[in-house]
Order: sequence, then structure tokens, then C-alpha cells
Amino acid sequence: MRLVFVGPPGAGKGTQAQFICERFSIPQISTGDMLRAAKAEGSLAPELVATMAAGGLVPDEAVVALIEVRTVREDCATGFLLDGFPRTVPQAVALEAMLSKQGSKLDVVLALEVHKDLLIERAVLRRTDKRTGRIYHLKYNPPPADAVLEHRGDDHEDVVKKRVETYEAMTAELLPYYAALGLLRRVDGVGLVEQVKARVFEALGV
Ligand code: AP5
Repeated sequence: MRLVFVGPPGAGKGTQAQFICERFSIPQISTGDMLRAAKAEGSLAPELVATMAAGGLVPDEAVVALIEVRTVREDCATGFLLDGFPRTVPQAVALEAMLSKQGSKLDVVLALEVHKDLLIERAVLRRTDKRTGRIYHLKYNPPPADAVLEHRGDDHEDVVKKRVETYEAMTAELLPYYAALGLLRRVDGVGLVEQVKARVFEALGV
């Protein structure tokens, strides 16, 4: 299963990706997580740190290079879930070329759809447990008392609004691109986590 997971900031991609990856025994590859890890270890260029903090997209070449190295690792032999990549048509074209070189191709592109008004609240009240990587929400999915919580630097309202605008501008081309290739499946991301999970699994035919 080689799957691309697309959706606006705070739509629930990371939350649902955990279920999909468990179900198909594939790794979740999140360019956002990889960039944040590089930032934490001090290896991300300062201009890219600034771009992320402002809610913009880092250059295509930077994320394509990350994916190129990651998708040839052994744990990707039977597939992977790409969370947040590609985000632009040039990234999608680079991915196709990369997979074709490896003798493989994408199976499906899932687009998780959530109305703009809900995204701000979902992202701003998100907290992640540093030790487990589990994603929580202070209102909808409260963390356990012993969780060591982290609040992402780009999860503040003004930056989330900017990230939503960036996403809208970018998907204007990306979703039609994948629809034309016959790969796109849209899933309604509004409702309880379990309800969305059932829709995601239905869209994947499991
Ligand atoms: P990235 O880390 O990819 O962030 P994102 O796409 O903005 O997505 P999020 O992680 O914010 O949200 P999510 O959809 O995973 O939601 P979650 O499940 O956590 O990217 C960060 C930055 O890196 C970008 O801005 C860019 O600068 C850079 N970048 C990354 N990839 C790039 C690329 N390819 N090209 C260029 N730049 C790139 O859920 C959110 C909250 O909602 C949680 O609190 C959760 O508990 C809650 N929740 C989930 N589901 C529900 C539900 N059904 N009901 C109620 N609450 C829910």
C-alpha cells in the first residue's frame, strides 16, 4: 500500500494515519515531523526554520530530498503512508519519477476534508505527548495525566490561519492533478475520530 494523505492543517491526518499504518503495517512518513526533528537537532537551515514558523512551505527540493532518502529504507518495502507530502504539483511529479525509478507507483491519494472554521480550534488546542508521539486535543481528546505535553510553535492562531491559506492555494492544483490520474478519494473529516476512521477505512476498501 503506497498512500498519500492530503488535508489542511489540523484536519486529523496524523490522528488517522496512526490507524491506517497499524492496519496495513506500513510506516508513517511525515515531512512535517522530519523537518521538526531536523530543527530540534539544529540541522535545519535558519531560513527554513523561519518559513515554517511563518506558516509557509519550505522549498520543494528540500522535502523531495528527505522523501527520496526515506522511501528506500527497508521498512518501506511493502509500502508507506506519506503524511503532508506532496503538497505541490512539482513535488507530486518528483514523487512519481522517484517511484517509477524504484519500479513502483502510488495506489491511492486520500484527501481528508474539514471546513476551515474547525481547523483553527483543532490545531490551536492540539498537544502531543513528547514520549509517545501520541496526538491529543485539550477539548476533544484530552491527554492522560502523566503525558509530557508539547505545543507546536506553529499551532498559534495567526500561524494556523496562514497555513490554511497556504494549503488552499496549493491544493487548488494538487487535488485536480491527482483526480485526473484517477487516484483521488475524498473523505469527510468532520465527526468523532472513530466515525472518521470508519470512513477512511471504507474509502480504502477495508
Ligand atoms: P505538517 O507537520 O505536515 O502540518 P500540517 O499539514 O499543517 O498538518 P498538522 O500536523 O497540523 O495536522 P494533522 O492533519 O496531522 O492533524 P492532527 O491529526 O494532528 O507541516 C508543518 C510545516 O512543515 C508546514 O507548514 C510547512 O512549513 C512544512 N512542510 C511539511 N511538509 C511540507 C511539504 N511537503 N512541502 C513544503 N513544506 C512542508 O489533528 C489536529 C488536532 O485535531 C489534534 O489535537 C487532534 O487530537 C484533533 N482531532 C483529530 N481528529 C479529530 C476529530 N475527528 N474531531 C476532533 N478533533 C480531532
